[in-house]
Amino acid sequence: MKEIITIRDRQFELFIEQEIIEQGIKRIAAQINADLKGKNPIFLAVLNGAFMFAGELMKEVSIPSEITFVRLASYDGTTTTNHVQEVMGLNESIEGRCVVVVEDIVDSGNTMVALKEELEKLNPQEIKVATLLFKPAALRQKLHLDYVALEIPSDFIVGYGLDYDGYGRNLKDIYKVK
Ligand code: IMP
Ligand code: MG
Repeated sequence: MKEIITIRDRQFELFIEQEIIEQGIKRIAAQINADLKGKNPIFLAVLNGAFMFAGELMKEVSIPSEITFVRLASYDGTTTTNHVQEVMGLNESIEGRCVVVVEDIVDSGNTMVALKEELEKLNPQEIKVATLLFKPAALRQKLHLDYVALEIPSDFIVGYGLDYDGYGRNLKDIYKVK
């Protein structure tokens, strides 16, 4: 594993190794297995960033559950400047279900708040949030996160699903910008 890498025009340094990441994921999977036992949850993984986290998380989830993948298309509302997230690719009904949103990172929290608002319209029983990474200092929304694998400072990071300009998602460790 290389300590310093270059992606496009930026240098990144090794920040969190795979083993530490996966310890965090195992810890929240154990919490999910205990908390959501008997609830038959449906996991909603948000593409692209959450693909690697979702794969690793689901290997550790041992309760009966489903997983599906969604993508968010953001657009500006016509009458307000509010950031709206359209949820694409959700073919399953989530009405009355325990939904677990699986996200790569919560930064300002804007994306997650908008996504939860959209999902609420579909009348789930409850919505839990599982995120690989959380930047507490960057949070600008009132938002409860149920499962956080790792808390990090506000630096820009890549790897383990997260990208810089489309690149770096395949890195098995997490790197931060130098
Ligand atoms: P939020 O709406 O500000 O919470 O940002 C959420 C989205 O911004 C995430 O789903 C990521 O796609 C992206 N993002 C935030 N911080 C980072 C980072 O450090 N690296 C890569 N993407 C990031
Ligand atoms: Mg994302």
